[in-house]
This record gives sequence, C-alpha cells and structure tokens, in this order.
Amino acid sequence: METVMKTALTALLAMLCLTACQPESNFNIEQQQQLDGSQALQLSVEGGFVLPPIPDDNPLTDAKAELGRHLFYDVRLSGNGQQSCESCHQQSLAFTDGKALPQGSEGHTLVLNSQSLTNVAYNASYTWWNPILVEMEDQLFIPLTGDDPVELGIDDGNREQVLQRFRDDEQYQSLFAAAFPQQAEPVTLVNVVKALASFVRTLISDRSAFDRGELSDSALRGRELFFSEKMECFHCHNGFNFSSSTVTVNTRFPERVFFNNGLYNLNNNGSYPSAMPGKFKVTNDWADMGAFRPPTLRNIELTAPYMHDGSIATLEQVIEFYAAGGRHIESGANAGDGRINPYKSDFVSGFEATEQEKQDLINFLHSLTDYEFIRDPRFANPFAEQPDA
Ligand code: HEC
Ligand code: HEC
Repeated sequence: METVMKTALTALLAMLCLTACQPESNFNIEQQQQLDGSQALQLSVEGGFVLPPIPDDNPLTDAKAELGRHLFYDVRLSGNGQQSCESCHQQSLAFTDGKALPQGSEGHTLVLNSQSLTNVAYNASYTWWNPILVEMEDQLFIPLTGDDPVELGIDDGNREQVLQRFRDDEQYQSLFAAAFPQQAEPVTLVNVVKALASFVRTLISDRSAFDRGELSDSALRGRELFFSEKMECFHCHNGFNFSSSTVTVNTRFPERVFFNNGLYNLNNNGSYPSAMPGKFKVTNDWADMGAFRPPTLRNIELTAPYMHDGSIATLEQVIEFYAAGGRHIESGANAGDGRINPYKSDFVSGFEATEQEKQDLINFLHSLTDYEFIRDPRFANPFAEQPDA
C-alpha cells in the first residue's frame, strides 16, 4: 500500500515537474542529480534509450554498482555458500541459466524460469506475473530471503553470519565504505539490496544489430511481419524494449500489462497449472488467469527455453505456437486446448506463414542479440580470471 501511495506521489510530482519546470527535457533535474558524477549507467550512441527511472532513496553511483557486481557473483551471499545470483543469471546467456526451471541453494526446484536481466531497469513491474512488485529493491528480497521456495536461503537465523563474511573481508570493507560513505556500519542487508539493484540497473542492452540498423534482407522482412496485423507480435512486445510494460524517467502513468497467450487450458475452464496461475495469483480475478508480463525480446536468441515455466524449448517452436494460436496439450496432467482458453488475448489468434516467413521472423528476433552486452567487462564476474584478449 505504501509503495502504491509512493508511486502515485512520485507520478504526481513528476507530472507537476514535467509540466511546470521541464517540459522538453529528456529527464528531470532530480534524475540528473542522481546520476551526477556516475559513469555507471552508460547508454550507447546507437541505442540511445531515454534514461530509466531510479528511486530517490537509491541514487545510482559507480561505487554502488561495483559493490553490487561483486555481491552478484559471490556465493558467500547465500546461507550455505552454495549459490550466487549468477547461478541463475549468467552473463553469456543474457543473465538466464539455460534451464526450464532452476533449483535454489537447498535443492528446491522453482516453478518459474530464470528471467533475463536485460534492461530490467525499464520494467514497470518485476517478475513474470506480479503486478504489485514495482520496485526492484522490493523484488530482490525474494531471491535473498524467500523461503517458498528457498533461493539464496538467507534467514533470521543466519543473516548476521552471512553479513559477517563481508564485514571480515578487506576488499568488501572498502567496497561498502565507497558505496555508502556516510555510514559507520554499512554492511546491512538493506545496503546489499541497494547495491545489487544498482548493478542490475546498469545491465543495459542497446547495442544489437537492430540498434545499429544493420538488418539483413531476411531480418527486414521479419521486422515487417513482427509489426504486421497478421502476426500481431508488436501489440504486446512493443516499445524500444519489445515489452509493453516499460517505464522511463518520462513515464508519468506506468502501464502494467499482462496477457494470457494460450499456453494452457486445464479442465477446459481456462485454468493454468495451480503452481503458477499468473497475475490471478495476486488478484484472484479470473480475467487475470494465465496472464503474464510480456517479456522483452531483446537477447531472446540466448535465453531458451522460453515462457514463464520454460515449457517451450526453441524459438522455432515459439513461432509454431503463435501460428497455431495457442498450445493444445493432448494428454497428461496439463492436458487441455490452450487455443480456446477463454482468457486468451484476442491478439493470439493464429496465422498462416510460409517457412521463409517463419525464418525471416526468427532472423529479425536474432537481430536483437547484443554480443557486446554479454561480453561487457563491466557486467562480468570480478572474481574470474581474465579471459584471453
Ligand atoms: C535459484 C535461481 C535464482 C537465483 C539464485 C536468483 N534468481 Fe533472480 N530470478 C529467478 C527467477 C526464477 C525469476 C523469476 C521470478 C518470478 O517470476 O517470480 C527471477 C527474477 C529476477 C528479477 C526480476 C526480473 C524481471 O524482469 O522482472 C531480478 C531483477 C532478479 N531475478 C535478480 C536477481 C538477483 C540480483 C539475484 C541475487 C540476489 C537473483 N536474482 C538470484 C531465479 C533466480
Ligand atoms: C497477447 C500478447 C502477445 C502477443 C500478440 C505475442 N506475445 Fe509473445 N509473449 C506474451 C506473453 C504474455 C509472454 C509470456 C507468457 C508466459 O510466459 O506465460 C510471451 C512470451 C514470448 C516469448 C518467450 C519469451 C521468454 O523470455 O521466454 C517469445 C519468444 C515471444 N513471446 C515472441 C512473440 C512473437 C514472435 C509474437 C508474434 C508472432 C508474439 N510473441 C506475440 C505476449 C504476447
């Protein structure tokens, strides 16, 4: 509730400021101050996105992002020292893990596919399904301290022990001091989250072939198809991030959209598997059954398998799925014809496409792969040996 009020207030302030003080500018004064002196958020000349919003209580600095990078790759940030954020978010896979469903540090299998961390700073809400988780700082407590299921497994019993590992480490003493210079005891879980969020916000991918305007003839045809009324992809995957739930510093009233794209239809009543019914889990409104946030399609070539539960293995199969207008599962626990799910969006109505057209669409999606992003040393494991040049 507090967050909702805060968001409403921020939106109101932003509106007042935008109309009264800075109607033309790309970002407001406050934002400029928050990034003052910071190299952390570098946008490429090619992509040139508008800046993402940054919360007032966690201004982005180089020192915080650098601390966050270390924590992101450090297994000491889990209760039993077995996992780090990287376990499920690997740079070479655009910060996914190549698995349908990951396992937490104590061996529990999660019900959701590890999300790409491509451009998450621009997400209007966090996770595949939750419409009220609107601050990354709030979301990050889930992998750190969540117990259903356990991911990194920090709890009341071991929290001080986990933090002590960093208090005792000389490198972290200086990293925390640089990141939180005003504080006598900076090694707290709240600061860990602030640093992680700062690092994750710097994971901006805007240097793909698409951003450079270097599309093959086939990819150009695929782009036409992507934006056509025949295939309808753009209705849900739109904007510079190819996701419709995108915010920038200029966004006054964030749109948080969720769609059912017809993956399931259990009991012929539109149900999704009970472990993950999408936005319905929060609202209990049947109109939200199976509704998920449209993911960014940037770096999609690298982030297989696909969908919230990793249930589609390849991009080719994703295209077949949309061409069929949903998924018909003939037998087993999840049997049902998703093509006739009553809550499915009208934009997923199926289409005819030649093999060449499907290949063109795939080539367009491949043009969204950002090879500089996955090799950028600023995002890499600081503890790893330097790769050969
Ligand atoms: C055990 C695997 C696992 C670990 C460890 C893990 N994550 Fe995740 N992460 C996931 C999954 C699965 C999701 C999707 C969760 C959902 O939809 O509810 C996710 C979602 C996210 C998101 C939201 C992305 C979006 O687009 O909304 C962020 C940000 C994130 N993780 C960052 C982190 C950070 C930082 C850490 C380390 C503190 C971390 N994760 C540790 C598996 C993991
Ligand atoms: C009605 C809105 C809608 C339309 C139209 C739509 N998508 Fe999606 N797309 C989604 C949603 C929502 C998801 C996530 C669904 C889930 O995980 O349950 C998704 C998931 C995907 C994924 C998997 C992403 C990932 O990270 O796993 C790909 C790839 C994709 N869509 C491509 C396309 C293409 C190509 C088209 C056009 C042929 C298209 N989409 C049309 C809403 C849509």
